[in-house]
Amino acid sequence: MNPGIDRLSFYCPAYALDLRRLAEARGVDPDKYLSGLGQETMAVAPPDEDIVTMAASAALPIVEADGADDFDWILVATETGVDQSKAAATFVHGLLELPSTCSALELKQACYSATAALHMACAWVAARPDRAVLIVASDIARYELCNPGEPTQGAGAVAMRITARPRVLEIDPFRGVHADDVFDFWRPNYREEALVDGQYSTRMYLAALTAAWERYGAASGLDWTAFRRQCFHLPFTRMAEKAMLHLQRTARWPSEGFRDRIADGLAYNRHTGNTYAASLYESLTCLLETAAEDLAGARVGLFSYGSGCTAEFFSGVVRPGYREVLRAEAHRRQLADRVALDYRQYEDIVRLPLPKDGGEHVFAQYRTGPFRFAGLSQHKRVYERL
Ligand code: HMG
Repeated sequence: MNPGIDRLSFYCPAYALDLRRLAEARGVDPDKYLSGLGQETMAVAPPDEDIVTMAASAALPIVEADGADDFDWILVATETGVDQSKAAATFVHGLLELPSTCSALELKQACYSATAALHMACAWVAARPDRAVLIVASDIARYELCNPGEPTQGAGAVAMRITARPRVLEIDPFRGVHADDVFDFWRPNYREEALVDGQYSTRMYLAALTAAWERYGAASGLDWTAFRRQCFHLPFTRMAEKAMLHLQRTARWPSEGFRDRIADGLAYNRHTGNTYAASLYESLTCLLETAAEDLAGARVGLFSYGSGCTAEFFSGVVRPGYREVLRAEAHRRQLADRVALDYRQYEDIVRLPLPKDGGEHVFAQYRTGPFRFAGLSQHKRVYERL
């Protein structure tokens, strides 16, 4: 058996903006967002929620179910880091009360970093089959108001327990990568919002997909017939369709049945927006939790893309009995029970600046999960468990 994902847990903020409201405010035909981009609502993080609270909230059910004694690492994958030195993983370590023998590390390469964390974790547990690694991908996607990227914004986190005998997905030991130095999407340290060359970024994504796929094929000896389903990094859900069409043109993938291969992995992302590092794993969670068909034994193709860029095509095989450890009902309720914001409330939230004066700040309480970002004191972030 190959190492892989033993449990998955997803978390998104309790507030959402319907993209019809955004379209109305921007004077855009709502079908551009709903059909053209394939997005319906975007998750909005309130001021007392950040990538740390989302990460801890995603991971808590895993810790409650399996304990934390066998974790050697907590790896937090994010591009919305909260500190230049202190890793977000150390805050999450504290909130989850992980043992002091569990190392904490933050990883960054745009939306790709959770995939790097996954391979590092698999290699670690392969050498130590009685140990485990906790990975949490957590991000808040923000562009400037009125930027074409605005309707793709989102927020969310996915936590994964990685073990040598996984109950959800074994990760195949081969991969195809593509890396290059490009400016398609980036966020300089002095900016709150990302900068993006939108159309160029989409072309970079697709070019990287073909290159990574060709190298995956050479490394594995597999072709498209090996996969029953396919999950992609989803900056917006129509990207999966673009990716499949692109593989038809460049790598002779078949056109027949291509929508069936991607359809079950789209619903969660359609309602959260881009969750950057978490996006591919959110799509995988959605596929496993919403597919009517029993996927035990099915090979799933996975494409991870992080702007800048590093991309990877890899795969995994679904384990028998995987449904017993999923949290489908909890995730369905979380998405359904969100508070719908009106446009003005959305703009008020995104315009609220984080204080930078090092003084004492206590934040107003919004709806959050089990953890909240309560304020700032002497330049230190203060978190609390509710
Ligand atoms: P845009 O340029 O305003 O949109 O922004 P568009 O003109 O390309 O239209 C989008 C689609 O809607 C088109 O479909 C239109 O035809 C259609 P397509 O031609 O592509 O098939 N459309 C309509 N459909 C129905 N009814 C209508 C209508 N009007 C138009 N009335 C863009 C699009 C993606 C560029 C923008 O949202 C953006 O900049 N997004 C952010 C960047 C991004 O998501 N890039 C994706 C690849 S890079 C990536 O994935 C990495 C990333 O996650 C970051 C990281 O790695 O950290 C972003």
